[in-house]
Amino acid sequence: MNINNLMVTGGCGFIGSNFIRYLLGETVFTGRIINVDKLTYAGNPENLRGIHEQYPGRYIFQKADICDADVIRKIFTDNNIDAICHFAAESHVDRSIKRPDSFIHTNIVGTFNLLELARARADKFLLFHHVSTDEVYGSLGAEGYFTEETPYRPNSPYSASKAASDHLVRAYHETFALPTLISNCSNNYGPYQFPEKLIPLVILNAVDGKPLPVYGDGRNVRDWLYVRDHCAAIWTLMRSDKRGEMYNIGGNSEMENIVIVEMVCDILDEMLPASGGRSRRSLITFVKDRPGHDRRYAIDFSKVHRELNWSPQESFATGIRKTIRWYLDNRTWIDKIRSGEYQSWIREHYGQ
Ligand code: NAD
Ligand code: DAU
Repeated sequence: MNINNLMVTGGCGFIGSNFIRYLLGETVFTGRIINVDKLTYAGNPENLRGIHEQYPGRYIFQKADICDADVIRKIFTDNNIDAICHFAAESHVDRSIKRPDSFIHTNIVGTFNLLELARARADKFLLFHHVSTDEVYGSLGAEGYFTEETPYRPNSPYSASKAASDHLVRAYHETFALPTLISNCSNNYGPYQFPEKLIPLVILNAVDGKPLPVYGDGRNVRDWLYVRDHCAAIWTLMRSDKRGEMYNIGGNSEMENIVIVEMVCDILDEMLPASGGRSRRSLITFVKDRPGHDRRYAIDFSKVHRELNWSPQESFATGIRKTIRWYLDNRTWIDKIRSGEYQSWIREHYGQ
């Protein structure tokens, strides 16, 4: 399969920007990337600083909302798009509890718009890769794993909207023979993650000596996946001849939240001792639990391992150190987010 013009949606977000860097810098991909991003609060042009100059003619940015069907159609047609890797979404569970509307629009209607474009180009369209989440499966008890056969039981407006989009993608394959793939992965961590998610939030608060909020009893379990491993998994799937399938992607790193927060504190104490030598664990603060908080996620990724020989390369112990180091070394990136300055490029170019 030779993709010439790949539309990446949500490429200025956390995983999308890592994926674009990975694709251009570490793979045999020779085509063009057309990054379509609305630049919400989570879309940060700083995440791809220098990419346009580094890969002349191979990277194009289009600020657009995937809910705007006419605008997206024009970008799609003008750029002769032959494949889509779809990351764009509202992605934060807590925000979906406070205000679900944009989750319904972007995650469901936006995905539908993209599917319709791909369908209209049926004969020339190579692949619709939909990036989804393990949260569609709901919550596990102390035992067991999510497999691709696990029934969907989403518990938050976020996961329900992602489940709806997964069903649409599946339906477009079954009904219209659209070449699709769905990957459902666990919690990502690594460089460029917006500091509303647990790991970057805890790193930044701990550096600043602020409270580290742990929901409920802190014993909820997530399976952590280093973002580069996730990017490699997506590219492995895209390059394969598999179509109409879904694949679970996991990090083989089940951890309780409280254990992660303590690890971050201890590593930071070692890398950047706090003044007075005080342990940062003293900043841990148990707070009111998230409503509908899923207790445990754990991924069985044996299907992608068996069929395509993918498995995660990073252990949590090494990945978390790299991640903390990255946040310590990239204070400018952080300061621009904190001050809101990361949106100045958007104002300069689009006058908003
Ligand atoms: P993110 O919130 O960091 O980035 C989302 C990006 O989408 C942003 O750049 C934002 O500007 C853009 N976007 C939002 N609405 C848009 C719209 N209407 N039109 C165009 N662009 C829009 O998200 P992320 O963590 O990078 O997640 C990327 C994808 O991976 C999402 O689909 C998410 O559901 C999925 N996922 C994430 C994780 C994780 O741990 N972060 C795990 C599993 C699956
Ligand atoms: O499992 C994949 C999902 O992982 C993705 O689909 C989502 O887009 C992504 O945001 C992530 O969802 P979570 O809700 O698991 O991630 P979050 O970082 O928000 O929370 C991780 C765990 O930490 C969760 O059990 C809630 C808890 N938590 C989170 C925050 C922000 C805290 O205890 N304190 C916090 O301040």
